[in-house]
Amino acid sequence: AAVEKGNYRHFMQKEIFEQPTVVAQTLSSYLRRSDNSVALPQFDFDIGSVDRVTIVACGTSFYAGMVAKYWLEQFARVPVDIDVASEFRYRDPVLKPGGLALFISQSGETADTLAALRHCKENGQIIGAVVNVPTSSMAREADLLLPTHAGPEIGVASTKAFTCQLAVLAALAAHMAVRKGLMSREEEHDVVEHLLEAPACMNAALDHDDDIAAMAHLIAPARDVLYLGRGPDYPLALEGALKLKEISYIHAEGYASGEMKHGPIALIDDLVPVIVLAPSGPLFEKTVSNMEEVRARGGKIVLISDAEGLALAGEGCIATIEMPRVHPLIAPLVYAIPVQLLAYHTACVKGTDVDQPRNLAKSVTVE
Ligand code: G6P
Repeated sequence: AAVEKGNYRHFMQKEIFEQPTVVAQTLSSYLRRSDNSVALPQFDFDIGSVDRVTIVACGTSFYAGMVAKYWLEQFARVPVDIDVASEFRYRDPVLKPGGLALFISQSGETADTLAALRHCKENGQIIGAVVNVPTSSMAREADLLLPTHAGPEIGVASTKAFTCQLAVLAALAAHMAVRKGLMSREEEHDVVEHLLEAPACMNAALDHDDDIAAMAHLIAPARDVLYLGRGPDYPLALEGALKLKEISYIHAEGYASGEMKHGPIALIDDLVPVIVLAPSGPLFEKTVSNMEEVRARGGKIVLISDAEGLALAGEGCIATIEMPRVHPLIAPLVYAIPVQLLAYHTACVKGTDVDQPRNLAKSVTVE
């Protein structure tokens, strides 16, 4: 049956609002509520013995992979190499037999990612695939299929597939950690509980839709926008910038907060909005000092943080968006919402074709 927009103006908007539901759906197939454990589909190798992970993807899926690198290294203490698919094969990567190569793709058909998958298969890697289309080429060719249950995604700019990928990847990282003996039962319990809180926190983030729509009028006139984040929120900054350029055609760049002083700070003046993604926590103070560097140069800051972060650093920002206070593990899933909404509403203000942006394709099946 054809997917309908229902009461929404655009598919992208509908897909943004579906996220709490589809993330919950996806999580329910990876988390066992009876004993609060992580359960992956059956496969015939020992994931605990994997000593190296290679992640390959494109576009938004690549940014999900970047978040996963933080999680896999933090929890499972396994080194992770990550590359965009179009670069991966041609640099002749070193692939030791028995490594896990993980491909992340909404469509499961992106040509570069599929070619990289086949290359890894020929080079003795175990093939894992996080895909949203269960009948896709990548799904068929994987040894370990990790489906996302986002449902059909129609908007060209990916939204709900991304947060569902994050949900699966968090479960995978926890499962690997358990199998490696690095995560106790209690810790696994905690991880499961935090992940299960994600849909409600995402709903709380969606409650700020009206504020973000109003804020979009501040962003729409800009020619350039910078996004900053640290740790797992750095890939979110990259994703925020990608979403904005994809659908509003405003030039945007994502940067690691601490890297800003090595270049992008030269761009800052009162015409360049700087969107800072910074949940409160151990790294928050560092981000605040990066914000001060921006402010000292007349930069206009939009701070996306929780109540605690906004109380510490919200003053002097041109706008703030309050996120619920969340466990660091689920912050990327929750902070994805305001960056998606900001891009969406900015595109609406500019009157661009949100669901079918110029020059872009939903699935890129050529190299
Ligand atoms: C295209 C889409 C993006 C998507 C990327 C990767 O560029 O416009 O939204 O993130 O392809 O697609 P995949 O299906 O492999 O996730």
